[in-house]
Parts: sequence; structure tokens; C-alpha cells
Amino acid sequence: LKSKSRELIRSVRSPSQAAVLGAGIMGGGIAYQSALKNVPIIMKDIAQQGLDLGLAEAGKLLGKQVDKGRMTDEQSERALANIQPALDYTGFDKVDIVVEAVVENPTVKKAVLAEVEAETADGAILTSNTSTISITDLASALKSPAHFCGMHFFNPVPVMPLVEVIRGKQSSDDTIAKTVAYATALGKIPIVVNDCPGFLVNRILFPYFGAFCQLIRDGVDFWEIDRVMEAFGWPMGPAYLLDVVGIDTAEHCMDVMAEGFPDRMKYDFRTVINFLYEKDDLGQKSGQGFYRYE
Ligand code: CAA
Ligand code: NAD
Repeated sequence: LKSKSRELIRSVRSPSQAAVLGAGIMGGGIAYQSALKNVPIIMKDIAQQGLDLGLAEAGKLLGKQVDKGRMTDEQSERALANIQPALDYTGFDKVDIVVEAVVENPTVKKAVLAEVEAETADGAILTSNTSTISITDLASALKSPAHFCGMHFFNPVPVMPLVEVIRGKQSSDDTIAKTVAYATALGKIPIVVNDCPGFLVNRILFPYFGAFCQLIRDGVDFWEIDRVMEAFGWPMGPAYLLDVVGIDTAEHCMDVMAEGFPDRMKYDFRTVINFLYEKDDLGQKSGQGFYRYE
């Protein structure tokens, strides 16, 4: 970061009201983290079931904080009350920053971003938690692309420190500074990166998943690969990690990466993930992926 940008970041205050679109694995985690750090957040989904799951997960995680003696019951209840579940855009006119965390599909994301832009005040910051899709491309759906950038959290949100703040071609310095300020208020480590498919981390992670799929095509068992990577010292192997991420999300990410880097991400790599996706075996979220979850 240039020193002028650093100065701007220091001068910006964290938002007083946030919103997240999507209450799934990531949206639920972002809502919990915001609530924990006392930044009130509206959590909007299109399905009541999504909201119920998001709230239940946040309640469970806050309960663990109480069990570990880090919070009283009263503090936990107050934190949970920071999350306002919503099926519509009521209250979005008061929101300073929005994190879009709906499915990894550019058409859906563009429609949702245009919709939320119409519901927020001029100057509100819009961000996307997309894993791979170009921020400059998503910005084409917006009237005010200067107020938009990427805010890419990692899974599980409460534990993973990194947040990639992605600068699209038209993102303003002020937008980047406010997004960095929100990430910092959430206790995260923001890094500002340029825009391209997969940004920084997923340009490393998805070729790794691709190499894993190639090994399976070569006849190696996924279970053995996981055990080897654990013995190598990584917290989990690629099959288990794909189940954690979600097979549908991984499938969509692979599409974007294969289009962005056709020489490095050959379509052949995807066969294994595509096989599970077609069967609707979406990983932990559906109870069956590479592994079965009770
Ligand atoms: N949600 C919330 N908290 C969790 C959690 C979860 N799913 N899993 C663990 N924790 C918490 C525990 O409660 C514990 O908290 P305290 O320290 O406050 O007590 C803490 O994490 C450590 O727990 P464990 O000792 O059980 O930790 P672990 O050894 O199992 O490590 C982990 C947890 C760091 C998450 C580890 O499993 C890990 O590194 N997993 C890989 C995660 C990863 O690679 N994520 C990237 C996914 S890809 C992505 O996000 C990008 C994309 O665009 C697709
Ligand atoms: P998910 O399937 O768990 O949740 C998606 C949620 O979005 C669902 O609750 C769904 O009902 C909701 N939704 C769909 N359309 C909506 C709309 N129009 N308005 C509001 N809500 C809507 O998905 P996820 O894993 O949370 O992924 C969300 C985003 O985060 C994706 O862009 C994904 O690439 C990205 N991401 C995922 C991970 C991961 O490991 N899962 C990590 C980093 C980033």
C-alpha cells in the first residue's frame, strides 16, 4: 500500500451498521463475527430456513464462548441481538457496508448487487465475498462501481484470520479503506490485492484441488490422499477440505478458474468434483460429499 492509502485507512472509522446477503456457510459466519465484535449486522437471505440455520450456528458459537468462560450469558445474548435476520431490505437505507455472500454464480451475484444498490444510501459500500469471480466484472452491474470492491473471507470465518480486499478497476481508495477498516474491526488481517480470477489465495488453492482430482483420475484413492496430507502436517486433506467448502461452490469456482487460466486449470481436472455435484452430494452442508456426515 502506498503511504497515502495507509493514511486514508488510518483516518477511516469502522462501520456502525453492516449487512450480509446470504446466511449460508460464509454469510452465517460473517454475521456471527460482526455480532461478536459489536458491529450490528442485518443478515438477509431468500429462505427462512437459511436464516434459521445461520442464527442457530451463531447461537451455538456464542454458547461455546460462554462455556469457555469468555463471555457471560448476558453478553452472549446481547451479541446475538446484533444479528437482525431479514427476508427483505428493511433497514438497508441505514447500512454503511454490505457483504454479498450468495451462491458463486455471476448472474445471480450481479442481480443481487444491483438490487441492493437500489436499497442502500448513496455512498454505502458494497462488497462481494466471491471466491473467484472478477470484481471488475461484477461491478458492471452497478451504477456506482467506485463504491464496490471484493471482501473475501475464508472458511471457517470465526477462525481464519485472512481477508482479501480486492481492488476492482473502478474501486475508489475510500472504498478500499472502509472495507479494510471493517475487516480490522472484525479482528481479521486484511490484505489488499488486485483483481483477477481467484485473486491471490484461490490461485494457489484451486490448482491444488486440480492436482488432487488428477491424482484420483490416475487411480489413487481420495481417502489415502487425505491421510498422506494429514501426515504431511496439513490440518486436513483436499477431499475433506472440499467437503467443508461445499462441492457446489468448488464446482462453480473451478469453472471460473478454468475460464480464467485455461492453460493451468484444464477441464479434465474437474471430473471428480463434477461427479459429486451432479449427484447433489454437496459435502458437509448436505450430509454427503467425499465423506458421509451424520
Ligand atoms: N467454526 C467456528 N470455530 C471453529 C471451527 C468452525 N468450523 N472449527 C474450529 N473452531 C474453533 C474452535 O472452537 C477453537 O476455538 P478456541 O481456540 O476459541 O477455543 C479453535 O477454532 C481451534 O479449534 P481446534 O483446536 O479444534 O482446531 P483445529 O486444529 O481443528 O483447527 C482450523 C481448526 C484452523 C479451522 C483447521 O481445521 C483448518 O485449518 N482447517 C482448514 C481450513 C481451510 O483451509 N480453510 C480454507 C477453505 S477455502 C476458502 O475459504 C476460500 C474459498 O474461497 C473457497
Ligand atoms: P452457501 O450455499 O452455504 O450459502 C448461500 C446462501 O445464499 C444460501 O443460504 C442461499 O439461500 C442464499 N441466497 C441465494 N440467493 C440469494 C439471494 N438472492 N439473496 C440472499 N440470499 C441468497 O454458500 P457459501 O459457502 O456461504 O458461499 C457464499 C459465497 O461465499 C460464494 O460466493 C462462495 O464462493 C464464497 N466463499 C465460500 C467459501 C466456502 O468455503 N464455502 C469461502 C470463501 C468464499
